[in-house]
Amino acid sequence: MSRFVVCKVSELPPGGRRIVRVNGREIGVFNVKGKYYALRNLCPHQSAPLCQGELTGLAVSDEPGEIEWTREGEILRCPWHGWEFDILSGRTVFQSKNRVKTYDVRVEKEALKRLNEGVETYPVTVEDQVVILEY
Ligand code: FES
Repeated sequence: MSRFVVCKVSELPPGGRRIVRVNGREIGVFNVKGKYYALRNLCPHQSAPLCQGELTGLAVSDEPGEIEWTREGEILRCPWHGWEFDILSGRTVFQSKNRVKTYDVRVEKEALKRLNEGVETYPVTVEDQVVILEY
């Protein structure tokens, strides 16, 4: 598995996103309530840049007249036709077989050492952790 330094943790706060190009693929990295997720920036419907879409939540109901707003910031709406995807799983909200490619993301201090060794060429400070994208 290859690794890619995305940015410092401080540059990707909760609710934030970064879109990076890795080996010719655009991947959106999201901070959702302090956890990191990465999705391919390609909607499975008609290939829109999915990760540029609106972050939203989910309205759920157990009975008529009762609506609860949940999962704020965990749902990504495609900018072209509005399909909604669960950022945590990459699956569509309506549970079809459609799914966007997801990637593992970790935060590691060790990345700073590799940066200083010249493995990656991104600006970095020695005090902060960095976000690492695995692809
Ligand atoms: S291209 Fe994403 S919903 Fe159509």
